[in-house]
Amino acid sequence: MPTEKGLRLVTRDAEGVDTAFRSDVLAGLAQVPKAIPARWFYDDAGSQLFEDITRLPEYYPTRAETEILTQRSADFAAMIGEGRAVVEFGSGSSVKTPLLLSAINTAAYVPLDIAGDFLRAAAADLAAKFPGLPVYPVEADFMRQVALPEEVAALPKLGFFPGSTIGNMVARTAVDLLRNMRETLGVGSQLLIGMDLIKDESVLVAAYDDAAGVTAQFNLNLIRRVNRELAGDIPIDELRHEARWNDDFARVEMHLVATRDIAFTVAGQRFTLAEGESIHTENSHKFDSRTSNMLLHAGGWEPVARWTDDEGRFSLLLAEARPNRMAP
Ligand code: AVJ
Repeated sequence: MPTEKGLRLVTRDAEGVDTAFRSDVLAGLAQVPKAIPARWFYDDAGSQLFEDITRLPEYYPTRAETEILTQRSADFAAMIGEGRAVVEFGSGSSVKTPLLLSAINTAAYVPLDIAGDFLRAAAADLAAKFPGLPVYPVEADFMRQVALPEEVAALPKLGFFPGSTIGNMVARTAVDLLRNMRETLGVGSQLLIGMDLIKDESVLVAAYDDAAGVTAQFNLNLIRRVNRELAGDIPIDELRHEARWNDDFARVEMHLVATRDIAFTVAGQRFTLAEGESIHTENSHKFDSRTSNMLLHAGGWEPVARWTDDEGRFSLLLAEARPNRMAP
């Protein structure tokens, strides 16, 4: 639907309901087992709850990645060089960006995000922190190929995708995204990407089931959002947050488990959950050096460097988009 700004990214029906949210939730609840895509966690309350999660004692990824970004700045400067345009995928309110931009000499910063208001506020913040750095925010769905601003067309690019957000995607979706990033950024570009590491199951599960119950609230907030925005009557008090390690897929899963048989309505449609059955709300895949390299290769990226924090909990990888060459 064209607007004066180009493309409208969120489509709403006459009642103001986000049509993509409704179709995802209705399709996911009709599946066996039930699932709702994790991207719908991030309404205002959900984004705030995630910020709270990053400060929990059990949730190590943010601190570990920040440690790498702070301590390896000389390595980044050496391997990335000067004069690239940094393109951040899903910039949100990232506090990690200034760490990267302080480490390397960049020619421009291009934050991509689907949430326009948030994006412009974050871009203004960053422009104030780095006077003289050209900032070109782009309102876009970074899961697709994005047309970058004219102003950075001639510059070499560095994609930045911190936070292990790639871990939320199943392999097929992660590879689609990496391939689209290669198309967006072009041959000769680099990608700096965060991937959380496989570790002791108890540490992983605690990171997604903290003692203060913040992650449980984050998970349940999705149901609050469904009830509020999609005229739902899901009995929240009959759902219990659960974090599980799935070893076959090397991922932490978040579920909402029914504590008894329940029936409910969402957007006029009837659903049931038997006691012990769950709605699967998130995957958070974990990697080791081989699986992270395999994923990057599958997406068209050649890994060139890998850093971990001192405790070996989290990895940041640098990869390059090289011309395709003959393989044996
Ligand atoms: C935002 C995708 C990095 O998977 O660790 C945190 C989201 N979910 N606690 C993650 C999340 C539950 C987080 N990412």
